[in-house]
Amino acid sequence: MSPTAHGYIAGGASAETTVTANRAAFDAWRIVPRMLTDISSRDTGVSLFGRRLPQPFMLAPIGALELAHREADVGAARAAAAAGVPAILSSQASQPMEACTAAMDTVTPGAPRWFQLYWPKSDALATSLIGRAEACGCEALVVTLDTPLLGWRPRDLDLGHLPFLRGQGLAQYTHDPVFQSMLADAPADADRPSITPRLLGNVLASARHYPGSTWRALTSGRGLATVRQFVATYSRPDLTWADLAWLRERTRLPILLKGVLSAEDARLAAEAGMDGLIVSNHGGRQVDGAIASLDALIDIRGAAPDLTLVLDSGVRTGADVLKALALGADAVAIGRPYAYALALAGAAGVAEWIANMAADFELTMALSGARSVDELRAGNVELRPAARS
Ligand code: FNR
Repeated sequence: MSPTAHGYIAGGASAETTVTANRAAFDAWRIVPRMLTDISSRDTGVSLFGRRLPQPFMLAPIGALELAHREADVGAARAAAAAGVPAILSSQASQPMEACTAAMDTVTPGAPRWFQLYWPKSDALATSLIGRAEACGCEALVVTLDTPLLGWRPRDLDLGHLPFLRGQGLAQYTHDPVFQSMLADAPADADRPSITPRLLGNVLASARHYPGSTWRALTSGRGLATVRQFVATYSRPDLTWADLAWLRERTRLPILLKGVLSAEDARLAAEAGMDGLIVSNHGGRQVDGAIASLDALIDIRGAAPDLTLVLDSGVRTGADVLKALALGADAVAIGRPYAYALALAGAAGVAEWIANMAADFELTMALSGARSVDELRAGNVELRPAARS
């Protein structure tokens, strides 16, 4: 990857201590394997929202995947579909959800898919995005709460790089009829920026990313208007728990709130009629010094026993998946590793990575003495805090 692409994907907030804490939290638990448990047949499947899935892991939503590889979201989604692993399609995708889900259906019709929403300022745009996700066969709506503002990310700041300002990662918006109708009202810059090569590069890149002719997007100003309207509308920092009632009425899909780390927030989510949580600190990209998501899991499971819990942030190996499940998660989501696999070899790379994760998990589960995820979750495998030196 280019230095800017790598900085964007690998980076975390500020001193990146949350990124480190996510890994340390997994290492702080050790597995106590059991013997003679007849592991000759094994089942790594889990059931989420009435759907049986072959693996307890899924692809976390990642924006601007074109930074990793030109096959981008469609490539990752195709690999997920081939393995029956759910892909959570990002609001900040580089290709529209319709293209991803059509590609998934050519691989495996009806392959599992969820949609991740960044709740925009415009209710009409939110309604349109949700409606499109439903029409694309998405089986759950993931509402990411931890990014009403972008975290302080020094790697991007040092390189002066943010993909969205170049029109990257805006495909859900540029393909949305409601968003398109908002372009005429895109706000102007407060001050006229000085014309620099970088500015001209961004203007051209944003026009290239608008569907249809680049020349038309450039001369009509739609490329630049997309970036301005996106920046103005992509999030609602004024959201509160009371707003969830509006969302609950908009869709019959299960709703999961992504980014919850506090037990009290988990209780509020259950009270608001939510179906699940993605216990996550956004891979350490938002709040430096935040609790590791694995460290938040036990309390959240206790506070919200009936919610479906997916854990992400720092999951890298089969042992990590096992630990998260044994500590109360129903499944996990994984982010950066599949972006790196995509960067290496497109859809084929992601397929290879999924196969490796699946094998690592199945072996670790079986060698720990469990035949199935149900057995794991029933406490058949003991975890112990690591001995500290
Ligand atoms: C993300 N993440 C993210 N989350 C989300 O809800 N919508 C998004 O568009 C994105 N975009 C995004 C881009 C990049 C480059 C990264 C690394 C992450 C967060 C993602 O869904 C997930 O929470 C983390 O990636 C999980 O941590 P690991 O597995 O990367 O450690």
